[in-house]
Amino acid sequence: MSINSSDQNEFNESSINIQSFLTFLVAITVGLFIAVIVLPLWMPNMAFSLGGDAPKAYWYLSRATAFVALSLLWLSMALGLGITNKMARLWPGAPAAFALHEYVSLLGLAFAIFHAIVILGDHYINFTLLQVFIPFSTVDYRPFWVGIGQLGFYTWAILALSFYIRPAIGQKSWRFLHYGSFAMYLMGIFHGIFSGTDTSAGWAQNYYWYSAGSLLFLLMYRILAATIDKYFPEKKQIPAPAPRPTQ
Ligand code: HEM
Repeated sequence: MSINSSDQNEFNESSINIQSFLTFLVAITVGLFIAVIVLPLWMPNMAFSLGGDAPKAYWYLSRATAFVALSLLWLSMALGLGITNKMARLWPGAPAAFALHEYVSLLGLAFAIFHAIVILGDHYINFTLLQVFIPFSTVDYRPFWVGIGQLGFYTWAILALSFYIRPAIGQKSWRFLHYGSFAMYLMGIFHGIFSGTDTSAGWAQNYYWYSAGSLLFLLMYRILAATIDKYFPEKKQIPAPAPRPTQ
């Protein structure tokens, strides 16, 4: 992925070009197809878990990538809140946080696509391709909560692509659209809690609590920082770091 380090960017342009992102998606898909062709020859035992009458591997892959997608969404949200509550100025710096925020969001979206598509291989859930993409259509498996995940996925796709049309739609509309990320995170986490198999496990419950709790903390901090900025503007300036002594 090419990341522009231009400080002139002022966060108005996408720092990752769309061709790089599409190349990344194509590489994942090609890699998957190659694995499907090569695995049976190379590792017959492992290939058996991908084939046979009741392959489990797809289900495990979907569950594992579900948590990777949600974690990347968490990281992207944390970085975004870090930019607005100004914590990111201290580390890793606002331009780096912005580039990472965008990159991590696109990466998470790629994992979410994989999470949704790979479940097609699971014979127990038995979704069709259309059911994977049409919200609330998975009639035999928790249609409401899977539907919420599907809506979250589309919201995520719109928000990720909005990085590329930001100059066209203007800063105000982009910012308004960006508030949708809070709804998107809530959709993702509730979808995970209410449609996931792992929700009954202690580690998964801890994971959900820490994920939501830490974002809530950053959000509260952001609201507090904005309130202080508004009512005590003289405290707004963060002192510049002391210059390094010259030898
Ligand atoms: C087209 C969109 C989506 C579809 C069709 C879909 C489908 C599913 C299904 C069927 C499950 C239950 C799997 C099981 O545990 O047996 C599930 C669980 C889960 N999904 Fe999704 N999902 C979608 C989008 C998303 C998105 C965008 C996220 C992340 C933000 C996400 C995160 C999760 C999580 C964390 C679980 C719980 C996994 C577990 O407990 O093992 N999903 N999803």
